[in-house]
Amino acid sequence: MRNVIPPNDKKLRGTITIPSDKSISHRAVMFASLANGKSVINNFSNGKDPLSTVSVCKNLGVDIELHDEKTVIVKSNGKFRAPAEVLDCGNSGTTMRMMAGLLAGQSFNSILTGDESLQKRPMKRIIEPLSLMGANISAIGYKAPINITGANLHGIQYSSKISSAQVKSCMLLAGLFADGETIYTEPYLSRNHTELMLKYMNADITTEGTTTRINKSVLTPFKINVVGDISSAAFFMAAASIVPDSDIILQNVGLNPTRTGILEVLKKMGGNIEILNKREEAGEPVGDIRIKYSDLKSCTIDGDIIPRLIDELPVIAVLATQAEGTTTVKNAEDLRNKETDRIFAIVNELKKLGADIIDTPDGFIVNGKTSLNGRIEVETYHDHRLAMSLFTAGLVCKKPIIIKDFDWVDISFPEFEELMNNLM
Ligand code: S3P
Repeated sequence: MRNVIPPNDKKLRGTITIPSDKSISHRAVMFASLANGKSVINNFSNGKDPLSTVSVCKNLGVDIELHDEKTVIVKSNGKFRAPAEVLDCGNSGTTMRMMAGLLAGQSFNSILTGDESLQKRPMKRIIEPLSLMGANISAIGYKAPINITGANLHGIQYSSKISSAQVKSCMLLAGLFADGETIYTEPYLSRNHTELMLKYMNADITTEGTTTRINKSVLTPFKINVVGDISSAAFFMAAASIVPDSDIILQNVGLNPTRTGILEVLKKMGGNIEILNKREEAGEPVGDIRIKYSDLKSCTIDGDIIPRLIDELPVIAVLATQAEGTTTVKNAEDLRNKETDRIFAIVNELKKLGADIIDTPDGFIVNGKTSLNGRIEVETYHDHRLAMSLFTAGLVCKKPIIIKDFDWVDISFPEFEELMNNLM
């Protein structure tokens, strides 16, 4: 594993294109595998997580070709076949939770597993509601590996206590194979890429507020261009906002309102952001973002915005260290269940850099503005978003820092460092 030293004290200038959205890439290859015919996915993510989904779908008998890294061609008869081996989801919670929903209603058995981190993540949140639909699933301590015995599912009405797009998608995908209607409600709206893409593929699916209904459907193959990932763009937005004299344009960023919490927070903090060239791709809004350095001020982040920026909270902690006043993040307890406990990890590492930050059970409190120290080694906790958040912090440290095991960025964003360097 490689250690990395982020460049220090260099302004960001120029234009880059933000690579493919990880969440949409997962869904595109999974749903194309369920459609009878040929689908073409352009600008597919080359992160390791979406590639885990490709490998699982291939093991289920779907013909998937990767061309020039970014184009994926899926040829399917609309059905999965029993896998010959255990299905390895790698580091990807999205692959495991969504595939569990799809596999629960098949006529064959399967086993889903993952890496060390994924084997520690909570799966009760999907096993319990799927069981209510008639699924036959077992997992020791509700942790992977997950053993699925194919079963006939029936639709249910389910109100989730958490706002999780992975749980919602799992249930909606189980609903695609269940008799009768499946009705799913979440407290606050989480990312809705599953709903939009299934609708685009002519599924019988409707959403009203935070409730979605789905019935058995035949999916139509498609050709789509995956938009750029706002969660990847967030590191550049944060970097340009805190490094003096920066002015950058990020092209092709997905602007689905269930993902744009980071834009709202940056605006609240006094960020200098402009959205240009707004358009649409396969039901997903997309645009370019111009962002310049600005004097940031603190804010409070809680309630319904949390699911709309859940993956951006570690880099928001970095932003808060450079904002005047006290920034408080609440209601984000699920951050402790990600690739690592992201509340513990970001607080611990930013403290090492001299930030005035404390953790709370459901978030953190940061007092700014602090000038961050350098000549320090920080840990990624084998978490891609921790690695990129610490890189962003490194840009404003007084002296260079060393980030250990930086290669974990490859999970979602292998081009991260190269694109950062392009802007320096
Ligand atoms: C994702 C949903 C979120 C997010 C993850 C991707 C998805 O997880 O953190 O990176 O693609 O559905 P939760 O559903 O656990 O909140």
